Amino acid sequence: MESASDYHHAKALLDWQIELGATEAIGDLPVNRYEVPEKAEKPVVTQAPVTAPKAAKVDAVADARALAQAAGDLEALRAAMAAFEHCELKRGARNLVFADGNPAARVMIIGEAPGRDEDREGRPFVGRAGQLLDKMLAAIDMDRKAEDAERAVYITNVLPWRPPQNRDPKPEEIAMLLPFVERHVALVKPQVVVLMGNISCQAGLGRRGITKLRGTWTEAYGTPCLPMFHPAYLLRSPGAKREAWADLLELQARLRGAT
Ligand code: URA
Repeated sequence: MESASDYHHAKALLDWQIELGATEAIGDLPVNRYEVPEKAEKPVVTQAPVTAPKAAKVDAVADARALAQAAGDLEALRAAMAAFEHCELKRGARNLVFADGNPAARVMIIGEAPGRDEDREGRPFVGRAGQLLDKMLAAIDMDRKAEDAERAVYITNVLPWRPPQNRDPKPEEIAMLLPFVERHVALVKPQVVVLMGNISCQAGLGRRGITKLRGTWTEAYGTPCLPMFHPAYLLRSPGAKREAWADLLELQARLRGAT
């Protein structure tokens, strides 16, 4: 039980703090105010509650579509994506990773999502997988830095923000970012699209199974497309480089008008 002296001692401490300018009572431990308490106490209602108007449900996909459609060029598209607030990934990312390379290129590569290095630099495919991608492209005389559209490539990802711990994107994240990818392809108008890995196939073709899909021409975003193994997969499974090489030759042949 509290004694009177405890009370007076506590009150004196409080008065002293108020004198020092304290205006708010805080605890020793930080409080995470974003955390919703498990059970909010129910207010005692003595009269009919005034119901607040229901907040309109946000249709993130429709918003993305409207923003993307309104973008008349790549800079406007980048700005539209930067202004898109419905994707939680944005809050955990350091940078928007939009694209790299030459937009005049005949080949547009679509990867999955930025990793740590891409998130830091704000450019796609700059980490280990990106370095391997550059080597793969060099093997067929292509280069993201090339000014000559014949040799150039343009590179982007399905997701412009890094997922935490590089986890797979959720279907709803892919769905709300897809309108931007579609618009991106429509603005670049590449001759061919290369879909790197399963997530990119999921977004562009609506299905996974890269082992079966790779190496066979199909169509995505209204454009001829070639699914290929993701370079990150090739780093883990170097034995699959043989198929990747075959796919690169297939891409080269197509660009030369041979297939
Ligand atoms: N993997 C991807 O799919 N994209 C990047 O930008 C980097 C790694």
